[in-house]
Amino acid sequence: MTSITSTTKLCALIGDPVEHSLSPVMHNAAFQSLGLNYVYLCLRVRSAELKRAVDGVESLGILGFNVTIPHKVSVMTYLDEIDPIAKDIGAVNTVVNRDERLVGYNTDSLGGLRALSGAGVTLTGKKVVLLGAGGAARALSFSIAPLAGLLVILNRTEAKAVALASNLRRRFDKKIRGGPLTQDALFTEMADADVLINSTSVGMHPKREECVVDEDLLHSRMTVFDAVYNPLETRLLREAKSVGAKTVDGLSMLVHQGALAFKIWTGVTPPIDVMTRAVEAAVEG
Ligand code: ATR
Repeated sequence: MTSITSTTKLCALIGDPVEHSLSPVMHNAAFQSLGLNYVYLCLRVRSAELKRAVDGVESLGILGFNVTIPHKVSVMTYLDEIDPIAKDIGAVNTVVNRDERLVGYNTDSLGGLRALSGAGVTLTGKKVVLLGAGGAARALSFSIAPLAGLLVILNRTEAKAVALASNLRRRFDKKIRGGPLTQDALFTEMADADVLINSTSVGMHPKREECVVDEDLLHSRMTVFDAVYNPLETRLLREAKSVGAKTVDGLSMLVHQGALAFKIWTGVTPPIDVMTRAVEAAVEG
């Protein structure tokens, strides 16, 4: 076990609240398994303190940090450089302190795609139905849009789905449409869907028995990916399994976004299996 010394490098999570985060368990397990002298801590930072906290990252020589609610958008103002994908998405979840320049990335986007490809699911030419149009949906949509044959975004607030779809069409010149998240729309769109992704918060603890889609619309020809990871098996995933659909859970996206951040900070590709076991133990424990 690597011990904390005078040369230990610090990575952190900045958000409010942060105390339920699985990121410390996940990153510290990977640092330990690789024998890297790094430590990852959660730092609660209130919105009014965000600028001072980010300035502090530079002056304290913190190697890098993740950003979570409510700072993913506002942090962008205080960075020296933003990766073009994160700029398009309009949110940053990972920052590296590179030669005293703070560079922001969005690893949620590619993390979702890696979760799917890690489970053997390819999106090229496929019909993808994405539920939600919030921060998670936006991040996911920017990695899905260039690949999918057709991307349909359905959201409770229809205007947000329509706006996201038109934003993506301008960027990617692909078949992308937005609509309302109604049972009618789901009925129309699900029959020939190859991949269904839930990026709404429906089904998240404590409302575990809520499900955004009726079970009879799910079918065995589709992959169902739920970005919710608490509980690990949401009602949506349970019902998808019961109709014979392939399933991908939200923990896998959490691990892959974390692995991408880890690589940005350290230059080293972390062990996905170690990170997965650490977060599974934390969720189940
Ligand atoms: P995140 O950053 O996790 O994506 P968010 O930006 O607040 O969080 O987005 C939450 C998403 O879940 C939104 O798409 C939201 O729909 P609205 O845009 O209409 O608010 C969706 N959502 C939350 N509760 C929902 C519910 N009960 N039914 C359907 N969609 C819901």
